[in-house]
Amino acid sequence: MKRKVLSVLLCVAMAATMLVGCGSKKADAGSSGGGLVGVAMPTKDLQRWNQDGSNMEKELKAAGYDVDLQYASNDVATQVSQIENMISNGCKMLVIASIDGESLGTVLAQAKDAKIPVIAYDRLIMKSDAVTYYATFDNYMVGTKQGEYIVKALDLDNAAGPFNLEIFTGDPGDNNARFFYGGAMDVLQKYIDEGKLIVKSGQVDFETVATANWDSAKAQERMENIISSYYADGTQLDVVLCSNDSTAFGVENALEANYTGAWPVITGQDCDIANVKNMIAGKQSMSIFKDTRTLATQVVAMVDAVMKGGEPPINDTKSYDNGTGIIPSYLCEPVFADVNNYKELLIDSGYYTEDQLK
Ligand code: BGC
Repeated sequence: MKRKVLSVLLCVAMAATMLVGCGSKKADAGSSGGGLVGVAMPTKDLQRWNQDGSNMEKELKAAGYDVDLQYASNDVATQVSQIENMISNGCKMLVIASIDGESLGTVLAQAKDAKIPVIAYDRLIMKSDAVTYYATFDNYMVGTKQGEYIVKALDLDNAAGPFNLEIFTGDPGDNNARFFYGGAMDVLQKYIDEGKLIVKSGQVDFETVATANWDSAKAQERMENIISSYYADGTQLDVVLCSNDSTAFGVENALEANYTGAWPVITGQDCDIANVKNMIAGKQSMSIFKDTRTLATQVVAMVDAVMKGGEPPINDTKSYDNGTGIIPSYLCEPVFADVNNYKELLIDSGYYTEDQLK
């Protein structure tokens, strides 16, 4: 009797699985057998996440997995419900680039109950013990490279200065933003203390220079206000530390419309097409290049190892504590791109075609 009930249940479960599949991409007749992996990306608005998502999808499929790829329009509630669906639809593993690192605790507790391993992708998911591994670029190094670029570009160790600096970082809910800011400030703070770098606006601390949602329009608005208050009288702005390309883009738009002095040194990150074009046009000095293909390959290796019951490649077990303990991580190395090396880095490597940058 018991056995009969069980087999009926099993049949129902199997039929349900066949009918429901997982999200938009079903694990049906075309299934490649490795199991279903849910990939949750924050937004389609920024170029990089589209690349991350499609690289992940392509590489996971090539490794024999089915993929449920979702984008959440930078809306936390949407991301939570997408992850809930991934869990209830039978995903065996979750790869998540969070919108707000602290908002996934409840849904990830469900993943943990269902014994679904979770990889935090690019951004660390905070305060959840469901996070198994983390794969990213070395975020602190992104910041130090931006800082070092500024030191070199202005020759801060030799030039008399002082130079005027303004600072733009990212979303306070994104753990990466603190690492980018922290890395850059660890390099630049000494020059600020010496008086060689002066922040005329006085806007220096993380919360003040943060940009909600990494939104270009918000960065633009703050830069416009800074220009009209501190640089409208012809005062030279020498350098703007921008943690990424979307903030740099806003800053560049504000300068273009409202600033008449010599163009400042401006940093960025991601090598977005619009920013590389600005780099070629002399409106952005550098961008950190994080090859999303490298990260995807690394994460697929992680997924594959975990799915097969093995140990994934890890190269950092000290930097990333998410509030529940250290999350074993793999950090890829970022490099800087500027007008001198972008062809080799971005075109020769097949990341972009020459036409895309015209
Ligand atoms: C990523 C950056 C990106 C930013 C905005 C960060 O978490 O690491 O590459 O520019 O989010 O999307």
